Amino acid sequence: MKKLTSLLLSFSFAAAMTAQAAVPVYLDRTKPIEDRVEDALSRMTTEEKIAIIHAQSKFSSAGVPRLGIPELWTDDGPHGVRPEVLWDEWDQAGWTNDSCIAFPALTALAASWDRDISRLYGKSLGEEARYRKKDVILGPGVNIYRTPLNGRNFEYMGEDPYLAAKMVVPYIKGLQSNGVAACLKHFALNNNEVNRHTSNVIVDDRALYEIYLPAFKEAVDSGVWSIMGAYNLYKDQHLCHNQYILNDILKGEWGFDGAVISDWGGTHDTEQAIHNGLDIEFGSWTNGLSQGTSNAYDNYYLAMPYLKLIKAGKVGTKELDEKARRVLRLMYRTVMDGNRPYGSLCSPEHSDAARRIGQEGIVLLANRGNVLPMKLDGHKKVAVIGENAIKMMTVGGGSSSLKAKYEISPLDGLRKRLAGKADVVYARGYVGDTTGEYNGVTTGQNLADDRTPEELIAEAVAVAKDADYVIFVGGLNKDNHQDCEDSDRAGLELPYNQDALIEALAAVNPNLVVVNISGNAVAMPWVDKVPAIVQAWFLGSEGGNAIASVLTGDVNPSGKLPMTFPARLSDVGAHSVGQYPGTPRNDGSKIVDIEYREGIFVGYRWADKNKIQPLFPFGHGLSYTTFDYGKATIDKTEGTADDVFTISIPVTNTGDRAGREIVQLYVSDLKTTLPRPVKELKGFKKISLEPGQTETVTFEISRGDLSYFDADKHAWVVDPGKFEALVGASSRDIRSKVAFKVK
Ligand code: GLC
Repeated sequence: MKKLTSLLLSFSFAAAMTAQAAVPVYLDRTKPIEDRVEDALSRMTTEEKIAIIHAQSKFSSAGVPRLGIPELWTDDGPHGVRPEVLWDEWDQAGWTNDSCIAFPALTALAASWDRDISRLYGKSLGEEARYRKKDVILGPGVNIYRTPLNGRNFEYMGEDPYLAAKMVVPYIKGLQSNGVAACLKHFALNNNEVNRHTSNVIVDDRALYEIYLPAFKEAVDSGVWSIMGAYNLYKDQHLCHNQYILNDILKGEWGFDGAVISDWGGTHDTEQAIHNGLDIEFGSWTNGLSQGTSNAYDNYYLAMPYLKLIKAGKVGTKELDEKARRVLRLMYRTVMDGNRPYGSLCSPEHSDAARRIGQEGIVLLANRGNVLPMKLDGHKKVAVIGENAIKMMTVGGGSSSLKAKYEISPLDGLRKRLAGKADVVYARGYVGDTTGEYNGVTTGQNLADDRTPEELIAEAVAVAKDADYVIFVGGLNKDNHQDCEDSDRAGLELPYNQDALIEALAAVNPNLVVVNISGNAVAMPWVDKVPAIVQAWFLGSEGGNAIASVLTGDVNPSGKLPMTFPARLSDVGAHSVGQYPGTPRNDGSKIVDIEYREGIFVGYRWADKNKIQPLFPFGHGLSYTTFDYGKATIDKTEGTADDVFTISIPVTNTGDRAGREIVQLYVSDLKTTLPRPVKELKGFKKISLEPGQTETVTFEISRGDLSYFDADKHAWVVDPGKFEALVGASSRDIRSKVAFKVK
C-alpha cells in the first residue's frame, strides 16, 4: 500500500512539475516582473521589438501576437478618460459607452492642498480608465506656472515645485493602484503653448533643478511608471529625445526605470530617438505621408527607418533592447498584471469624488462684510449673471476635452440648491464662445445670441438691481486663447467685456459675488468694488453643485491659491526680465529661443524679491470661520544640516463653525552665498477644526528643506548659518516665525 501511495505521489508531483513548467516565465504571474521582462525579451525577434516601441494607432501600440503579449492602450487625460477616437484620427469614434465623469482641473486639485483628496482623485480616475481598458493615462501634468498666459496651466499644479511635487504623488499612486500607468507630462520646460513645438528653452541649471524638475523628480522617486517627453527644445534638442534631460538626468541621475513616451508628434529624428532616451513613439506624422494615413505607423522614426539601420549594420540592438525592456516593464505593470482590479465607470462614488475635489479646491478670495455664505432666511431673489453660469466647460480646451456623462452648470447647481428657498433669475450678461464642439463631441447647447454688449448689460442690470444677491459667473472658457492647449492668452484681462459688466453690476447692487471660472490668474480692476470673490476653476461634472454648496455655506471653503494672482503682467518675472514668448532665430530653423532670465524667481519668489504686492498672494484663501495661530516653537535652535528641526504651532478655530485650514511652512536662508528667494514653501498641512478646537501642527525641517542647487558643484548644498521657519496662512500672511542656526 505504502509503495503504491509513494508511487502515486511521485507521479502527481511529476505531473504538477510538468504542468508548472508548461507556463513559460514571461507568462508566469508568480514570477518577478524583471524575470518576466527578460524572458519575454529573449523570445522576441528584432521586428517584434521594433513593433512595440511605436504606435500602431492613434492611442495604442502593438503587442506580440505570436507570444500572446497584448497591445498597450493609452488615453488622455488628466481630468477624465477621453472618449474613443478613430484608429488614425483625433475625431471621436462615436461610441455610446465611453462617457465619463469629468473631474476638476488639476489647478483645483492643487488648490485643495489636500494629499488625501489627491489620492482619491487618482484612484477614481484610475478606476474609470481601468474600466475603459486603458493601460496608460496621459497625465497628470506638473509644468510650473511661469506665466499666467500659458494656455495649459489649468492642467497643471501651480507655481511652486514643493506644492506640485507633494500634490502630484498621491494622484499617481491612486491612479497606478488600479494597474493603470500615469504618464507624467510634459517633461520638461513646457511652460507656454505659443511656439510649443519650436521653443528652445534657455534656463540656468539652478532654476532647472530648483523650480522646473522637482515635481517630476518626486514622482520618479515615488514610482511613476511613464513620463511624456515635451514638444519644446532644450539645448537645441527636442525633449522627446534629449540627451541632457532624458539620459543624463531622468535615467542617469534619477534612475528612472519606466518608459519615456513621446508627445504626439514630438519625435523628429530617428538617430536622436535611438540614442537620446525615447522609449516609445506616438502620434508622429511621418515624412512623405500626410496626417493619419493608415500605413504611416510603419514609417515612424522608431519603425522601419530604425529597422533599416539595424539591418544595414549601421546601429546595434543594445538601445532597441533597452527600449523594448522599458516598454515591456510598463506592460507588465499594467496590461500583463493579471491581478489588477476591474475599475468602474461613472459610479456615484466618482461623482461624489468629483464634487468633493471641487469643494476642497474652491478658493474664497474676498468676502468683505461677510456677504457669503448666502443668508437664505425669508424668500430671497437671486440674480445669476454670466455666460459661464450656463456654458459647458468639459468640452474643449485641447486634449483634456471630455465627453462627460453629465455636467452640472453653476446655474443648474444654484437652481437645484435654492429650489423653494429663493427665486433664481438669469441673464446672459455677455457673449463669449458660442461654439460647443471638440473633435466631434458636442455640448448640445445653442449659445447663439446676437444682442449687443449694451443690450446684454442693460438686461443684466435690470435683473440685478433689486435682487438680494447677484452672483456673476464669468472668467475664461477653454476656447482658443482662453485657457486652451496650443494657444496662450493675449493678456491678463478678462475677455468679452466682462469688466464693464461687473462694474455695472457693482454700481446697482452691493451684494455682488464674482465667481471666476478659470485655470489662470486674471486681472480684476473692479476688485475694490466687489465684496465677495470666489476662484472656482474648471470643476467638471459636479461643478455647479460644488459652487452652490460653497456659496450657500453647506461647505466651508478651504482652498488656497496654488499660484500668485498678479495685479498686472509686468509684476511677473517672465514678463519683467524673462523672455516671453522668445526670439525667433533667423536661420530658417523656425526655432524660437526663450530665455528664463528670471531664473529661480518664479511666482511668489519674484514678488517677494521685488517687494511686489500681488492682487492675491500664493497660498491665499479665506474661510467662513477664523483661525488663530499661536506662537511657533522649535525643538532646537541649533543643529547640523543632518539634524531634523521640529516646528510646532497651535492653531485654533476661533469662529462659530467648523472649517479646514491649510497651515503653511516657509523656510528662509538668512545668510547665503548665492541669491536665494526670501522664503520657500517647505511644508503644508490641511487640518479640520471644530469651533473652539485647537490642534498643534508640527513640521519637520531636514537637509533637503535647507538646500539649494549649486550649479558649479552640480550638487545640492546647505550653507551653514541662520535660518528662519515661518508659519502662515498664506505666503503673505505669516503668523509666527522662529530662528534656528545650522552649524
Ligand atoms: C497632445 C498633448 C498631450 C496629449 C497628447 C495626446 O498634443 O500635448 O498632452 O496627451 O497630445 O492627445
